[in-house]
Amino acid sequence: MSPDAPIEAMIEVKGLTKTFNGVTVLRNLDAVINRGEIVSIVGPSGAGKSTFLRCLNLLETPDEGHIFVDGVDVDKMDVRKLRMKMGMVFQQFNLFPHLSALENIMLAPTKLLRMQKSQASDEAYELLDKVGLAGKAWAFPWELSGGQQQRVAIARALAMHPEIMLFDEPTSALDPTMVNEVLGVIRSLADEAGMTMAIVTHEMRFAREVSDRVFYMDQGVVYEEGDPEQIFERPRRDRTRAFIRRVDTARFEIDEDDFDFYSFNAQVEDFAMKHLLEPELRQIMLLFLEELFDTFFLPKFHKFTFAIGVTERREVEMRFVYPGRALDPMTDEEGLLVRGIFEKNFSSVHYSRVGDENILDLVARRDLKLTPLS
Ligand SMILES: Nc1ncnc2c1ncn2[C@@H]1O[C@H](COP(=O)(O)OP(=O)(O)OP(=O)(O)O)[C@@H](O)[C@H]1O
Ligand SMILES: [Mg+2]
Repeated sequence: MSPDAPIEAMIEVKGLTKTFNGVTVLRNLDAVINRGEIVSIVGPSGAGKSTFLRCLNLLETPDEGHIFVDGVDVDKMDVRKLRMKMGMVFQQFNLFPHLSALENIMLAPTKLLRMQKSQASDEAYELLDKVGLAGKAWAFPWELSGGQQQRVAIARALAMHPEIMLFDEPTSALDPTMVNEVLGVIRSLADEAGMTMAIVTHEMRFAREVSDRVFYMDQGVVYEEGDPEQIFERPRRDRTRAFIRRVDTARFEIDEDDFDFYSFNAQVEDFAMKHLLEPELRQIMLLFLEELFDTFFLPKFHKFTFAIGVTERREVEMRFVYPGRALDPMTDEEGLLVRGIFEKNFSSVHYSRVGDENILDLVARRDLKLTPLS
């Protein structure tokens, strides 16, 4: 290897351990993120994902272990230099409230890089354009929506020309209608060659589409890593499998004899929270399901399977699988009661018969306002 050959590992972590008040949050964690690689980090709450990111740019001081960035031990690096190389975007946008979008973006380059104001402002305008906010240069944070503020925060991080970007749940604090605009900006950054990115996210579909590799973190280690297809479709280890199954779709075997609607409610609610569905929607959805079960599925079929998922476009998908005689509620006389409801609320209703089972797939409208049966 020639002395100038780039080191392939952009971030290399060896034996990273971090303890807070006697509780070990990261335990002997090893990980490598290569130059230009997009890595998503997923895992249950409390797994240590944020702590991991915060150790990478020394917002937390590791107790043990080593972190190499571009081949250099960060212990031996000037913290300011490290932060310039590594931009970070948090769940909370933390814009300066007294500065316009443009001034927020110009601040670090003029202060830390001593960039000329004119150049910093030219670059800030370009960055605003890049995140789709060309017209908002002079808006103050309070005049911007959450999604717009987060896009300014991304532009602000980019203004330092970082080689690495770290994102910690950049869409978790947003109203669901604004998640996609922020994910879109991150996605287009990921598509540009060169940037190395680590993204902590609960948006599983996004992680799957945008990443070169996925880390599943659990109990302070990278418990499993692999390409997105492997992690999401064929996880190898038990806890990964349990986690992926839990977040991707929620599936319920429903039996009239011992159906516990309270437990069902709680699980659907939990799922809806994870996928950031609005509280009103969660409530109406539960009402809707209760009525649908009581008037149609339970009395007619006694046992059936119900699954619910959320697509990348934030549509709610539902699937009912019910055994026995063929019954397409959209054409059959017996479906009359529910047909109108389906038509009103779902952009797509698809019935199929496989073996001796009926499968009904529903995709809710994006502006879903489910109307209860009564
Ligand atoms: N500064 C701190 N002081 C004390 N405990 C902390 C601190 N930061 C994190 N912890 C604890 O460390 C554990 C891991 O936290 P961390 O925020 O890294 O998890 P996470 O995987 O990011 O979870 P989430 O998905 O909820 O964001 C938690 O139990 C948390 O309470
Ligand atoms: Mg976190």
